[in-house]
Amino acid sequence: MKIAFANSGLPDTGIVCVGVLKGNKLTESAKTLDTKLKGSIKRAISVGRFEGNLGQSVSIPAPAGTKLDTVLIVGLGDPKKLDDLAMQSMGGRIYSAVAKSGSTAVSICVDTIKGCKLDAAQMGAEAATGARLRSYTFDKYHTKKGKDAKASIKSLTVRGPATAKARKLFASMDRVADGVFFTRDLVSEPANILYPETLAKEAKTLSKLGVKVEVLNEAQMKKLGMGSLLGVGQGSVRPSRLIVMQWNGAAKKSDQPIAFVGKGVTFDTGGISIKPAGGMEDMKWDMGGSGVVIGLMKALAGRKAKVNVVGVVGAVENMPGGNAQRPGDVVTSMSGQTIEVLNTDAEGRLVLADALHYCNKRFKPKFMVDLATLTGAIIIALGSDRAGMFSNDDKLADALSGAGTAVGELIWRLPLGDDYDKMLKSEIADMANISPGRGGGSITAAQFLKRFVGDTPWAHLDIAGVTWTKKDAATVPKGGTGFGVRLLDRLVADHYEGK
Ligand code: BES
Ligand code: ZN
Ligand code: ZN
Repeated sequence: MKIAFANSGLPDTGIVCVGVLKGNKLTESAKTLDTKLKGSIKRAISVGRFEGNLGQSVSIPAPAGTKLDTVLIVGLGDPKKLDDLAMQSMGGRIYSAVAKSGSTAVSICVDTIKGCKLDAAQMGAEAATGARLRSYTFDKYHTKKGKDAKASIKSLTVRGPATAKARKLFASMDRVADGVFFTRDLVSEPANILYPETLAKEAKTLSKLGVKVEVLNEAQMKKLGMGSLLGVGQGSVRPSRLIVMQWNGAAKKSDQPIAFVGKGVTFDTGGISIKPAGGMEDMKWDMGGSGVVIGLMKALAGRKAKVNVVGVVGAVENMPGGNAQRPGDVVTSMSGQTIEVLNTDAEGRLVLADALHYCNKRFKPKFMVDLATLTGAIIIALGSDRAGMFSNDDKLADALSGAGTAVGELIWRLPLGDDYDKMLKSEIADMANISPGRGGGSITAAQFLKRFVGDTPWAHLDIAGVTWTKKDAATVPKGGTGFGVRLLDRLVADHYEGK
């Protein structure tokens, strides 16, 4: 879908959306259109239950005396409460209402609204962003898709004052949406197509944006002593990879970087501790954390963020097989710490142990944030609308929470503590990779990771519940969500750019 910005004024054709405030107060564009339509808008909003509330809408098909396809009247609610997220949701809902209507063009009219904290340019840019985020599809493997299943809308024009400002605001939001789409593409790919080597190939495409991408093979990782990561991949015929991405956008290229680390398990069968068959197909998106790190690098490089940032991804496939690691095996991580692998399905932490240690040792970052679809227990604790957060640093944790709230990707902090750490005791090695019993599974997993980050400020986001969704939401269609890209982009923008 092509997105453009045009000066105020109504279109002659296609679908046109105008806003009405709480109490059925018409915006300027709604008034102008109502005059043109000889009072049809006022009449349309008065005959039903429409009250101008946020989320409500009424449509007038083929209005007489015009060449318009449809007039869509959308409720904007209380102008004081109309913020960036409300406008994004509005854009997303408008997109889904018109996408398969048969019309090819839609215009969204925005106005200067008294009492609203957003100006018309901000409103337009946010609505366009929401529409774009909702327009995502992953349909490359449908060879016989009928025309009714495809979107008819080809262009979205935001019409209103201050188009230059709106265009500029949208340009950087659009680059972030590029990153979100890349993440959604990566998590949607099946595991016969996306495996460690092809994931690395996808990451390499970022070099055209100026990202430096290095890929370590198994021999190089072995030399570095990454026994923990390599143990997970050893049962698969697909060789493991470590992907290292660097974007140096800060004014001083020598500035200490910030770092993001992702779990890239391209398929998680559980290994010898094999998972039940039902629902196992979901484990193609067990590389969700790595998808976010790669998508985030695309967003930051795309919008030329003034920051030095490192992205590290541990990419492995967890398979049973003649060469797979066994429950009870002891591996030595790059940090030198030994691990008894009591359950081969608790593999994400084994991959991250080496990825985190490598990242910390090589780059000495200001902080590290890792993302991983790490535990089923986080879904039991928090459901599918909030990611779990664990951190050794209150300032970083607060900054992450704030960024999440600002973009509508919510996170909830859970505790760490010595009492949980003790649960990782092993009879034979420095630690076990699981704790006995079923209690606190997400916490002990985080506690395990904490042993590999040293004193560096660190946060772990367990995104197992939020990486994939089975139902459409305003700006997130069902499938891969891209949860984390907008959050971390905002963290960078608000706290680490140009500083
Ligand atoms: N990839 C899974 C976690 C997961 C579960 C992600 C459901 C998304 C949806 C992880 O590797 C795993 O299997 N964790 C185990 C840990 C257990 C063996 C201690 C789990 O959560 O059951
Ligand atoms: Zn697992
Ligand atoms: Zn896993």
